[in-house]
Amino acid sequence: MEDSRIGLPIGVTLDRFIKRFQDDFPYATGELSQLLRDIALAGKVVNREVNKAGLINLSGSIGSDNIQGEDQQKLDVLANIRFIRAFTKGGEAGAIISEEDEKVIDLHNRGKYIIAIDPLDGSSNIDVNVSIGTIFSIYRRLSPVGTPVTKEDVLQPGTNQVAAGYLLYGSSTMLVYTTGKGVNGFTYDPTLGEYFLSHQDMRIPDDGKIYSINEASCLGFPDPVNEYLTYCHEHAHNSRYIGSLVADFHRNLLKGGIYMYPTTATYTTGKLRLMYECNALAFVVEQAGGMASTGNSRILEIVPNNVHQRCPIFIGSKVMVERLESYFM
Ligand code: AHG
Ligand code: MN
Ligand code: MN
Repeated sequence: MEDSRIGLPIGVTLDRFIKRFQDDFPYATGELSQLLRDIALAGKVVNREVNKAGLINLSGSIGSDNIQGEDQQKLDVLANIRFIRAFTKGGEAGAIISEEDEKVIDLHNRGKYIIAIDPLDGSSNIDVNVSIGTIFSIYRRLSPVGTPVTKEDVLQPGTNQVAAGYLLYGSSTMLVYTTGKGVNGFTYDPTLGEYFLSHQDMRIPDDGKIYSINEASCLGFPDPVNEYLTYCHEHAHNSRYIGSLVADFHRNLLKGGIYMYPTTATYTTGKLRLMYECNALAFVVEQAGGMASTGNSRILEIVPNNVHQRCPIFIGSKVMVERLESYFM
């Protein structure tokens, strides 16, 4: 059988790539492929809005807080609308979990997939023209289509993800995703309106020199994290922190590094959200040969009890995450 990691050549379109690998999915009926296309299309729309934000009065806050108590930006709200609309119209989704919606959006028995999404990540960077992103996780529902979506359908551990990835609205716009058979990256060409395969079978370097953390909160970090930071300081590491998880993660995926958001004095259970930030990137990083940990355990094995729950995260190159974990032992 042909190894699906030896894929199509660089430059092939996303659509052709999805079609080529559709048959690799167990029980494939084309719905997961369609979901990925829906995400890619909504991403094009959001990309257009992000690019024009300064021109069409889309910068700035909307003047309300989301469920996290965080100031919602206009583009947070707009991106949420774009993705929810794509999933609702498509018919493949049974329920949607979004950072911007307190309650799970129940699509009334319709589709067989559950989607968790951070429609716009790094939104404090919108107004200053710095990279932002979208993060998504896709699960297959456990209960049969046609019956009401259950709590167990929604609160699945990350190990159950069937696909996950992110869009990065950066110096170029990229879609990076996995369906559990490696990680591939596609670059969007706005002049053609197409994504093209640009990063085939992405592998994160086993070790690296970059660490990414908001070090200003160090007084509230657990001791093992500060001890690991001292190790980084003593071993000629580089500190790089954009403040957009997707962008920090993507750089470290390509160059080797570790991204950390530990518990802090302000965020006593961590800041980042398990279901629509951590799990997706944990799936991607593991598929690329890296690791994602809470310091003590594998992110993907956490069974959520709340769709908006937070967790500490240490994610990136294997050797770096293992070293960080050794300080927790
Ligand atoms: P979001 O914009 O979706 O709320 O996510 C913000 C997150 C993440 O993108 C980023 O890495 C982190 O918050 C930055 O937090 P600090 O400003 O506390 O460093
Ligand atoms: Mn986010
Ligand atoms: Mn967000």
